[in-house]
Amino acid sequence: MNKKGVFIVIEGLDGSGKTTQAKLLVAKLRRYKAVYTAEPSKGKIGKFIRRRVLYGAKRFPTAVEALLFAADRLEHIQNEVLPALAEGCVVVSDRYIYSSLAYQGSAGLSLEWIEAVNRHALKPDFALFIDVDPKDVEARLKRRKSVMENIETQLKVRQIYQSFIEKGELVKVDGNKPKELVAEEVLKQVLAFLKRRL
Ligand SMILES: Nc1ncnc2c1ncn2[C@@H]1O[C@H](COP(=O)(O)OP(=O)(O)O)[C@@H](O)[C@H]1O
Ligand SMILES: [Mg+2]
Repeated sequence: MNKKGVFIVIEGLDGSGKTTQAKLLVAKLRRYKAVYTAEPSKGKIGKFIRRRVLYGAKRFPTAVEALLFAADRLEHIQNEVLPALAEGCVVVSDRYIYSSLAYQGSAGLSLEWIEAVNRHALKPDFALFIDVDPKDVEARLKRRKSVMENIETQLKVRQIYQSFIEKGELVKVDGNKPKELVAEEVLKQVLAFLKRRL
């Protein structure tokens, strides 16, 4: 695999500011040729997930949801992440495998099984978790909520994210502050990572 770039992922609850922060980070990392990507991806499976899984009338079995996200992830990597990495870009992904672990894990699937079906997914070089109080996240979400957003779910989801922070796989950033301050902290963490890596 011809990988020269850096693969960064931004995780968090819905409404925690992932999209805001991922885009601000890409703008601030212009000199590293940074690119923004997101999951669900722009591909066919990603579109299906957005239309039918997140905002569909009827839920699929959780294992089916997990398999769809895993399949979309492989398309995302193949079509968007690897080509950008091959060009030496810093790829910033708005959600990645930790979202599958946190959301489908909170819905009752074993984390081992979710990891197994994601075994072919590229490991991120650096993963950030934007932590916002689940109650505040509710207030921020003015738009229609997906099927995965209610306070009980959010609390369980956050607990799983927390376990990956404890394992050192995710780096926590306080997302309760104003956007600009969160963005400064995100940039600080990413630049420190890039410096360590060089
Ligand atoms: N630090 C912040 N403080 C208050 N509101 C924020 C903050 N960051 C983002 N928002 C707002 O909260 C909403 C959700 O942000 P968004 O970036 O779309 O979150 P996500 O992608 O995690 O769902 C948007 O209306 C956004 O403008
Ligand atoms: Mg978003």
